[in-house]
Amino acid sequence: MNRRAMRVISFVTQKGGAGKTTLAVNCAVAAEKSGRKTLILDLDPQGSAESWYQDREADTPRLVKIESWTLPEAIAKAHTAGYELVMIDTPGRDEPSVTAAIRASDFCIIPCRPTPVDMKATPPTVATIARLHKAAVFVLTQTPPRGERVREAEVGLAMLGVVCPVRIVSRAVYQDAHGVGLGVLEFDPEGKAALEMTELWDWLAKKMEKIVYEPKEADIA
Ligand SMILES: Nc1ncnc2c1ncn2[C@@H]1O[C@H](COP(=O)(O)OP(=O)(O)O)[C@@H](O)[C@H]1O
Ligand SMILES: [Mg+2]
Repeated sequence: MNRRAMRVISFVTQKGGAGKTTLAVNCAVAAEKSGRKTLILDLDPQGSAESWYQDREADTPRLVKIESWTLPEAIAKAHTAGYELVMIDTPGRDEPSVTAAIRASDFCIIPCRPTPVDMKATPPTVATIARLHKAAVFVLTQTPPRGERVREAEVGLAMLGVVCPVRIVSRAVYQDAHGVGLGVLEFDPEGKAALEMTELWDWLAKKMEKIVYEPKEADIA
């Protein structure tokens, strides 16, 4: 039987506070809700995804906190266990574990706030992704609901790569949901954040399907 390909996605940028953990857990909740068995791997020693999971009542999407040297083994195990998606949350520093996460990924998501400091922090991440020949997209996060600033940021990032047309607006509900171990889709299913997160995940999932699947060691073995 031809097993459906497992995809590995990492949330990367050396800028702390950009929204990696928020996007990782909310995308995982959206993916699981759409029927795809999803695993979150928390590579950040600070463990903010792990603490979200500890506050959570539901077991899914499952989360495991690991050290970066066990990443290939964790991914192989996820494949054996029948996961369809692995989402890796990474630390906000340029360190070897971030490179390891990018290397293990099929697809990288680079969250970026529309500020000059955040924009200036992206090129090293983009360079590592390019060196490892991985597909990546930018997602604008914590944006004002509208305005010229976001538009300018979008134009700036478009010079470096693909920018997701769905923007994640700054909303207290992201913080409130995180604090009680929920995704915004669960915390306020009818709210604006739930709508934009659904749109974001739909867009990312479609984009990812267009990527040529590279077999991993786990597939070949
Ligand atoms: N869209 C958003 N609206 C409001 N607050 C947000 C949003 N995204 C993230 N935050 C908050 O900003 C802080 C940093 O986000 P986080 O996801 O932890 O970033 P990172 O993992 O990149 O360091 C957290 O307190 C988080 O709750
Ligand atoms: Mg984080």
